[in-house]
Amino acid sequence: MLSHNYSYRDILQNSLKVAWTERQVLDGRDFDYSKRFLPNRLSGVDDVRCLDDREKLKLNQIMGNAYCHIFAYVEEYIIPQALEAAQKDIYGDETRLRTLLRFAEDESKHQELFRRSTALFEKGFGVRCSLIPAAKRWPRWCSASPACAATF
Ligand SMILES: [Fe+2]
Repeated sequence: MLSHNYSYRDILQNSLKVAWTERQVLDGRDFDYSKRFLPNRLSGVDDVRCLDDREKLKLNQIMGNAYCHIFAYVEEYIIPQALEAAQKDIYGDETRLRTLLRFAEDESKHQELFRRSTALFEKGFGVRCSLIPAAKRWPRWCSASPACAATF
């Protein structure tokens, strides 16, 4: 069983302390396409013996971009879940409410970060990487199901 000692107040204070904006993170920046985006152990591209070093670099970067899409995709359910939790006691503990609303706001920043990162990659990589066509339909019905969301 996982246990913790966090309180809504602690989480809120940490959230306020490390506040950032997507503009601070991405404005004026670009990916360095001369480097791999993922650690070798995560990408596993070095085990693909039929690829040369340049192809392994490209595959690693494609996998990095795929991770951005996957995280953006999976995290779409978090915002409605946080807002639903906030609404359960909207006139109760104000610290709890503010913490959950900040959590939803932080998640919306993550969404924007992923959107901007994948757009930046698409612009700079030189080749468009397609997505599975149904990818944009899944989160809406899954976000309505805690069991589906819990799968992730
Ligand atoms: Fe997130």
